[in-house]
Amino acid sequence: MSICRKALLACLAIILCHPGSACAQAASQSSAHPSDPRQAWMDPSLDPDARADLMIHEMTLDEKIQFVHGAGWGVLRNGAPVAPGHNGGAGFVPGIPRLHLPDINLADSAVGVRMAALQSRYATLLPSVIGLSASWDPDAAFLYGSVIGRELRAMGFNMSIGGGMDLIREPRNGRNFEYSSEDPILAGTMVGQLARGVQSNHIMGDIKHYVLNDQETGRNTLNAELDTRALRETDLLAFQIAITMAHPAGVMCSYNRVNGDYACENDYTLNQVLKHDWGFKGFVLSDWGGTHSTVKAALAGLDQDQPGDDNFFSEPLKQAVLSGQVPQGRLDDMVHRIVRSMFATGVIDQPPTPRSVVDPFRGRDDAQKIEEESAVLLENTGGILPLSAAKTHSIAVIGGHADAGVLSGGGSAQVDAPGGNAVDPKMGASVWGKAIYFPSSPLRYIREQAAPGAAITYDPGTDLAAAAKAASSAQLAIVFVTQWMSEGEDSATLSLPDNQDALVSAVAAANPNTIVVLENGGPISMPWAPSVKAVLESWYPGIGGGQAIADILFGRVNPSGKLPVTLAASDADLPHPQVTGLTPRTGNNGADAGAGRNQARQRPQPFAVDYNVEGMAVGYRWFQEKNKQPLFPFGFGLSYTRFVYSDLKIDPDAKAVTFDLRNTGAIAGDEIAEVYVTLPASAGEPFRKLAGWKRVSLAAGATQTVSIPLDPLYLSIYSNTGNAWTRPTGDFLFEVGGSSADLPLHLSLRLAAR
Ligand code: BGC
Repeated sequence: MSICRKALLACLAIILCHPGSACAQAASQSSAHPSDPRQAWMDPSLDPDARADLMIHEMTLDEKIQFVHGAGWGVLRNGAPVAPGHNGGAGFVPGIPRLHLPDINLADSAVGVRMAALQSRYATLLPSVIGLSASWDPDAAFLYGSVIGRELRAMGFNMSIGGGMDLIREPRNGRNFEYSSEDPILAGTMVGQLARGVQSNHIMGDIKHYVLNDQETGRNTLNAELDTRALRETDLLAFQIAITMAHPAGVMCSYNRVNGDYACENDYTLNQVLKHDWGFKGFVLSDWGGTHSTVKAALAGLDQDQPGDDNFFSEPLKQAVLSGQVPQGRLDDMVHRIVRSMFATGVIDQPPTPRSVVDPFRGRDDAQKIEEESAVLLENTGGILPLSAAKTHSIAVIGGHADAGVLSGGGSAQVDAPGGNAVDPKMGASVWGKAIYFPSSPLRYIREQAAPGAAITYDPGTDLAAAAKAASSAQLAIVFVTQWMSEGEDSATLSLPDNQDALVSAVAAANPNTIVVLENGGPISMPWAPSVKAVLESWYPGIGGGQAIADILFGRVNPSGKLPVTLAASDADLPHPQVTGLTPRTGNNGADAGAGRNQARQRPQPFAVDYNVEGMAVGYRWFQEKNKQPLFPFGFGLSYTRFVYSDLKIDPDAKAVTFDLRNTGAIAGDEIAEVYVTLPASAGEPFRKLAGWKRVSLAAGATQTVSIPLDPLYLSIYSNTGNAWTRPTGDFLFEVGGSSADLPLHLSLRLAAR
């Protein structure tokens, strides 16, 4: 960029920004001169660690302390002071202008940037992360993160606090829509790519909530218990993969305790595993209000206390450093980790200024593209789908507010709905504890684009008799069912809320051609599955959701998603038939709205959640180990075409598997080919585990030789005694196919220890 253009942009930045605002400050800060010997850290040719050291050398004790805690709840709490320079996100750390160290403005951004409407801004609602993970497409995950990074940047933020990485161990967890999968390799890969996408925009990325924050009930007090080996091979493995792939600036420690100690003062998970074993160079920030001490937390590895109003890391930390309870070197390490991350991601060299306007159309197109890969066709009896516009004369669309829009998830992942809640615009863009719909009406797309010649009625589905009547007078019925989920509360059951199981049964009884579209936060049960013809899992489908659903139903898009979670037939089949600690008093979401609100905080007495019940056997592994049949297995999903697998080969050291994949149907499609490994019996893991996959696009009739590399880590087990991963000796079974329960190719290979 020419000097002239740089100067012009700097002037524009100053004109566009309010004096004293974050962007004005950042713009002036970016004028630092690398050749000024007093600002040697501004020389971009130096590495981030060297630059951080140079700057820290110049910092006073007070400046260091200022940088290791946030400035309070700000806009999150009515009445809390909002510091100058605060950009309206969930967190703010004031910068140090004399050192050209910019403010850190953090924004929640799990499925899109939160709280945009507060400042008359717009943000794209992406499909939920669990949905994204159903695409099994690392490129889609990168795109997802880049949409978030792009929009954060446009809004003047320089750090994302998204990257939900907790394993879907508890299928009724209220935050599963922010998380990826029950499988650590799929989850780690997808969230790692997502965080890379965020950081590709010179925005600091984050991965959260570290670790075992796998349910919301009692999250602030519960003690998650899990044996070290199982922890390393499941929840921690997911974080390990994502963190080593993305090198995120931040890792947010969670509210809960892990094997006794709070996650934000847990020496094992923070110091020993994250920083030592994985070599994490970024900083650990607490979940909001998740810090419980000064000295213990600082020594255990917490680097930044958020939002900072509890004062653990302000004056008390200063005193602890002065008295030697926390070594000066440890404080310097905290600051180093933060500042080096700012240099490494480019937020100092390429600050998010000048601000710009988010492009809603680009965001919508990206969201729709991701949803087209994420929707999973679970059932298609008699090939009722895709529907033919020419042959469809009448449709009864029923339920799920399909006339108004698509559902989104709640809590700190809530994105503001443009124009207000689509089902009740007076409600505003977002209200904590209320279901918010986005203006992407499936009914509208079906009516106006997919089947303009058909007679289409809409019934809200609130009166079973009326819904059945509407269904009986149409050629086919499409029922939309919803499950609203949110941070702060779990569902007490896998069953759909609000009598929707009865609604589907009533409609299916009235019309043999019933198609169900699911908009849900996480796994649900479907007692009516055998009585309907088709089921399309759309998750929370995002701002392009209405169109993506219509396009899949009518065959403009061939569905290709596969389940990143097991769908159990009932709660009784789960390792924990009830969510631990969830009492009738704390209720569930849905029908008794209100009772379950903030149940996360309603359990002041500590209680244990015993994850040793299933240990390593999370999700599909549990079903295999216990010989139980799920309703729909992990990795399962149908297409409008068919794929045939053949000719499996593997090299003697199991570096990769190779096989042929053929599209034997009449249309092009994408297949997600999956590889599972069962370790030798001596490993003590009597279940197959995902070891790799590839999403392959094939034209009708085409064949491709597919090669899938195998990471040695995924063929290894963690040994408690040696703190090491080793590949056991013995016979490894490799299986390949289209779902964890349909693996036509298999080979056994004897491997030596490694
Ligand atoms: C959530 C975090 C979120 C933070 C700030 C907490 O309640 O658990 O995920 O980033 O609030 O909004």
